[in-house]
Amino acid sequence: MKQASVAAMNDCAAPLLARRAFMRLVGGGAVLAVGLGTAGCTDALPEVAVQPWRTATAETELRRFMLAHALLAPNPHNRQPWIADLREPGRIHLVCDGERLLPETDPFGRQILIGCGAFIELAVIAAAERGHAVTVTPFPQGAPAARSLPAGTVVATIVVGAPGSAARDRLYSAIVRRHTAKIAYADGRALPAALLSAWVETAGRYGLKAGTVTAPEQLAALRRITREAHEIECTTSATWLESARLMRIGPDAIARHRDGISMSSPMIRLLHKVGLFDPMEVPRRGQSSLQRVMDHWMPFETGSGFVWLVSTGNTRVQQLDAGRAYVRQHLFATVSGVDMHPLSQALQEFGAMRGPYAAVHSALGVDPARGTVQMLARVGYAKEPAGPAPRRELASLLRT
Ligand SMILES: Cc1cc2nc3c(=O)[nH]c(=O)nc-3n(C[C@H](O)[C@H](O)[C@H](O)COP(=O)(O)O)c2cc1C
Repeated sequence: MKQASVAAMNDCAAPLLARRAFMRLVGGGAVLAVGLGTAGCTDALPEVAVQPWRTATAETELRRFMLAHALLAPNPHNRQPWIADLREPGRIHLVCDGERLLPETDPFGRQILIGCGAFIELAVIAAAERGHAVTVTPFPQGAPAARSLPAGTVVATIVVGAPGSAARDRLYSAIVRRHTAKIAYADGRALPAALLSAWVETAGRYGLKAGTVTAPEQLAALRRITREAHEIECTTSATWLESARLMRIGPDAIARHRDGISMSSPMIRLLHKVGLFDPMEVPRRGQSSLQRVMDHWMPFETGSGFVWLVSTGNTRVQQLDAGRAYVRQHLFATVSGVDMHPLSQALQEFGAMRGPYAAVHSALGVDPARGTVQMLARVGYAKEPAGPAPRRELASLLRT
């Protein structure tokens, strides 16, 4: 019997694809309904996997408080590629966890560093909440080369300042409420003007540029490029399989890993259990497996528009700064009741993505020889509230 595939970038594919596989199965005469009853019919993630969102504020020791917030940072494929070395008092050395890179979809480690930048920014905001300014030194042992991010790279050293050295940051309270909403958004709703200004100002604070795309023609062009890019990522075996290996199907896997792509729907769990859903099946052009994946993409063609973040050049420090700016933009959105969802496929540097990479830069008026689109996110008002994504526990990233 044919096996079902699922879109790699997002858990939302699972219910849709599974439902279709189930219908085919029922059509074929098999009976799985009984299994559904016993599978525990809830999409909710296991409590242990999302606990870090609830416990961050309870940490009493300053550096732990900072890190408990930092680990809630947005990051590609929810790899959480960070190690925090606390062995020197008053300092945090943020080290890149070489076990948690994405060599296929992020061959140069650019996106991984954006996630690290977001981590740093949340640590800074949390320190300010307790009244401490911090000094961030990026790459204290030197920045890695442009095309490889070695395991164990010291990404930044964060030195904690004296009590009373910082004022609170108004974005603090949004840290535990910020979630990436990977679902359908309302179409055409205008975004608050103050948010658009905040996005641009935030980018400027880090030497970057930001802007939005809401005009129908430009929006349609970006949607076409991101759709094509998704199709390329899904039909390229290496990139699909990288994502497939990170799929965590069912509460046990989600609770065990607390990272990657969570799939919690009862239907997908059942189909996986009985061998009808195989994430390792790479979608092929001209086959229904790809059609199902692309059907799933359609909700991502909704919303008010896109926000982009561009650097002049593409240094390692700029990549960290892009992460710092991006998470602040997302926190501003959270405060304004606006949702965000990065669509990064067209920005990826693997060979097969060259066409969409050039197209997205051209659509945004960026010469890739001079500038780099670091983030592209759809924005708007999600049709339902997004829940928290899993996080590993604080202790698992500490070196003491
Ligand atoms: C550099 C970067 C790239 C990302 N690209 C995508 C993407 O292409 N598709 C997607 O669904 N989410 C993307 N995300 C969002 C992550 O999947 C998300 O941050 C992660 O799963 C954790 O969820 P949270 O943001 O709700 O805490 C990206 C995030 C970052 C920082």
